[in-house]
Amino acid sequence: MVEKEGVFEVERWLEREEKRLRLSKGKKRRKDYRDAKIEQYVFDHPTLQTLYKLAKRGVLKALGGPISSGKEAVVFHALGSSDRELAIKMYKVSTSNFNAMLDYIIGDRRFEHIRRDRRSVVFAWARKEHKNLKRAFDAGVPVPEPIVCLNNVLVMEFIGEDGIPAPRLRDIPADVLQRDYDLEELLTRIIRYLSTLYREAKLVHADLSEFNILMRGYDDPVLIDLGQSLPLDHPNAEAFLRRDVKSIVFFFNRLGLKCSEEAIIREIEVGVEVEGDGSDTVSQDTT
Ligand SMILES: Nc1ncnc2c1ncn2[C@@H]1O[C@H](COP(=O)(O)OP(=O)(O)OP(=O)(O)O)[C@@H](O)[C@H]1O
Ligand SMILES: [Mg+2]
Repeated sequence: MVEKEGVFEVERWLEREEKRLRLSKGKKRRKDYRDAKIEQYVFDHPTLQTLYKLAKRGVLKALGGPISSGKEAVVFHALGSSDRELAIKMYKVSTSNFNAMLDYIIGDRRFEHIRRDRRSVVFAWARKEHKNLKRAFDAGVPVPEPIVCLNNVLVMEFIGEDGIPAPRLRDIPADVLQRDYDLEELLTRIIRYLSTLYREAKLVHADLSEFNILMRGYDDPVLIDLGQSLPLDHPNAEAFLRRDVKSIVFFFNRLGLKCSEEAIIREIEVGVEVEGDGSDTVSQDTT
């Protein structure tokens, strides 16, 4: 039994969702409700079954509210064993941009042999995010700890508290960032994480921006959304590293820093000099 408000035991939640699917589709074509797409926060039948399996395995105890609904995936808050807070990312099979996913997967040797149908590609994508998170986490990069991946459902550590996700870097107003945050220190940290990701985990994030960094505190950024991250031997790795750096430099320079993309790329590739007293700073343009 789960007592927390707004959190339902998985079985009750699933019953409710199934009923909703049946009702919403029932009027027109009752027997096809199982094919319903995940619209907004309604799950399709195979996803419900996957959630149910995870509940049976003891991974999932309760589902909470939705955190986000994007084009590719929905993210829910949940509780696991010992009431640990979890984030559940469910990739949408029917609406995902399958061709874009395939573009990223081609060239990633870990997924060379997957079947090229929609379902297999989306499942491989979820597994890819799980593997990438694991590599990053094991290398010591602050990312959500991956817990399990089954079909299109990825279970990971929840970054936030009491069901409230940590804000994205993008959600913090510019004047607050300028006033209350040490932006140089923050950027230096992010670059150090990218460098560890590159040098230790041998990965490039490939979708880095202020949208994919959660701020756990003033100086505790966490990198998320590693589905599209790729190994260094991927033919596009260098181009994606440049794009990641460009996007982060653009964000921080708009807030008043003057950083050089080239210097940061070098720092990521060779490793950031970290001094014992933490006084390391970001390379700034001297021009
Ligand atoms: N582990 C987590 N802990 C807390 N919140 C999370 C976690 N993972 C994702 N989120 C929340 O869900 C949102 C979407 O997650 P993510 O960026 O991984 O998916 P996405 O595929 O990019 O979705 P979108 O298309 O909406 O950007 C994040 O911006 C964040 O608010
Ligand atoms: Mg995202």
